[in-house]
Amino acid sequence: MTKIFFLVLLLVSAVFAAADITRVNTITTDAAIEAAEAVLKAARKANHTVAVAVIDRNGKYRLLITDDNAGPQTEESAKRKAFTAVSFGQPTSNLTAAAGGDGVTIHDIPNTLFLAGGVPITYRGAPIGAIGVGGAPSGDMDEAYARAGLATIHL
Ligand SMILES: *[C@@H]1O[C@H](CO)[C@@H](O)[C@H](O)[C@H]1NC(C)=O
Ligand SMILES: *[C@@H]1O[C@H](CO)[C@@H](O)[C@H](O)[C@H]1NC(C)=O
Repeated sequence: MTKIFFLVLLLVSAVFAAADITRVNTITTDAAIEAAEAVLKAARKANHTVAVAVIDRNGKYRLLITDDNAGPQTEESAKRKAFTAVSFGQPTSNLTAAAGGDGVTIHDIPNTLFLAGGVPITYRGAPIGAIGVGGAPSGDMDEAYARAGLATIHL
């Protein structure tokens, strides 16, 4: 009897919750740490010092690490690449072309950076976060390190 009561209560609250409340998925802190460690490990294997940013859907930082001796530009680069990847739901390398050209482009949106190295964390078809990496000699390498981090996240 009590069980049924609680079941009904749950259903009723679910109906009310559906009206005005939304859920936001994000990865756990532990997953963000594990991903960042994998990024640093992959970069260090090639003797590259990088910065890693892991952000949520709203652009809030879950984690930001700058490796020993990484250049001062790497942090901003990692942050902006992550922001760009989660905003557009695509790897930043896919967006570089769209950011070029004359006149106003997506390039003009504040805090974006359309260099390779940002990859979205996609869950059920929607971006729920992103990993941005900056500091390797090329964006392709940054992206490869970001993907090493992405590979550790169990969705
Ligand atoms: C990284 O640096 C170490 C020490 O200087 C060197 O032994 C190693 O060959 C380097 N690795 C790469 C991939 O460049
Ligand atoms: C990125 O671009 C590649 C190559 O054009 C494409 O296969 C892939 O689907 C794109 N990724 C996303 C998330 O759109």
